Amino acid sequence: MSKEITGLDLTTPLSVSGKKDFILKNPIMVASGTFSNGIELSRDLPVQQLGAVVSKGTTVGARLGNPTPRTMETAAGMLNSIGFQNVGVQSVIRDFAPKWARWDTPVVVNIMGENFQEYLQLAEELEDVAGISALEVNISCPNVEAGGLEFGQDPELAEELIRAICKVSSFPILVKLTPSVADPRPIAYAVEKAGADALTIFNTIPGMAIDVERRKPFLGAKFGGLSGPAIKPVALRHVFLVASETDMPIVASGGIVSGIDVVEFIMAGAVAAQVGTATFVQPNAAWRILNELEMWMIENAQKAISDIHRAALG
Ligand SMILES: Cc1cc2nc3c(=O)[nH]c(=O)nc-3n(C[C@H](O)[C@H](O)[C@H](O)COP(=O)(O)O)c2cc1C
Repeated sequence: MSKEITGLDLTTPLSVSGKKDFILKNPIMVASGTFSNGIELSRDLPVQQLGAVVSKGTTVGARLGNPTPRTMETAAGMLNSIGFQNVGVQSVIRDFAPKWARWDTPVVVNIMGENFQEYLQLAEELEDVAGISALEVNISCPNVEAGGLEFGQDPELAEELIRAICKVSSFPILVKLTPSVADPRPIAYAVEKAGADALTIFNTIPGMAIDVERRKPFLGAKFGGLSGPAIKPVALRHVFLVASETDMPIVASGGIVSGIDVVEFIMAGAVAAQVGTATFVQPNAAWRILNELEMWMIENAQKAISDIHRAALG
């Protein structure tokens, strides 16, 4: 639905640091790892209508990922243990970025290093590549150098990492936080101090399933990440907590399946929302959700995101 017809203005600024502009035409993005790199789906779906597309988690080298089975449906969502299967950063630059450059929708490259040095290498290699609008730094993966700790669970490590990335990258930096902390605020403060532009809250929640016939863990990698509607209340709490103490733009991720879910997250303090698991149920879920959000705004006489942003924070 166009701005001219509805009077709605859903534009969403995601960069506050004065770096490159990063303004979405609407708040609906597709989440990392749930939309591949967008190339295949863009043949059948109008990606230019989305606020942004987030790439699959990109690592320095290509990765084959974890042993199968790597996904399973749960009562209200899914478990995945893909293990960062991806083509590697050089292939992203060579094969995907030139295609993204022709899109009228920004692409955010999600990066994942196995250690400090790899994150920096990724930011350096992606610097100024045409077709990329921002980086989303996934700090919810194991930090091999610190003995299995996550960067996302240690405010000092997170601050050091994001500061170093901001030094080598002129792209707006979104930092994707982990759900595996009781209180997300210390990490949020730390990455804000380090120069991050926005936060993505959050990633999948660690979980597992047991195959009772085989009497073994169902997933080939034993553990996986839980996503889908089951995790929405947890994500909402993290967004609400962080938004109550910082003005950083927040991108919500976790169980979003409807336009009303997006309204809830915006009222809790997010400015944008990523659609993840819902895409596996309905490939065009993000477009339906955008349409539902627009209808809700019109029916409730709200003209802009700012009319409802932080409304539930009091
Ligand atoms: C199959 C699958 C693969 C994913 N791959 C990545 C990834 O590579 N990098 C990342 O940061 N998040 C990844 N995620 C997490 C999603 O981007 C999203 O944050 C999470 O699934 C919560 O949102 P949802 O409940 O709407 O799916 C993946 C999720 C799924 C289900």
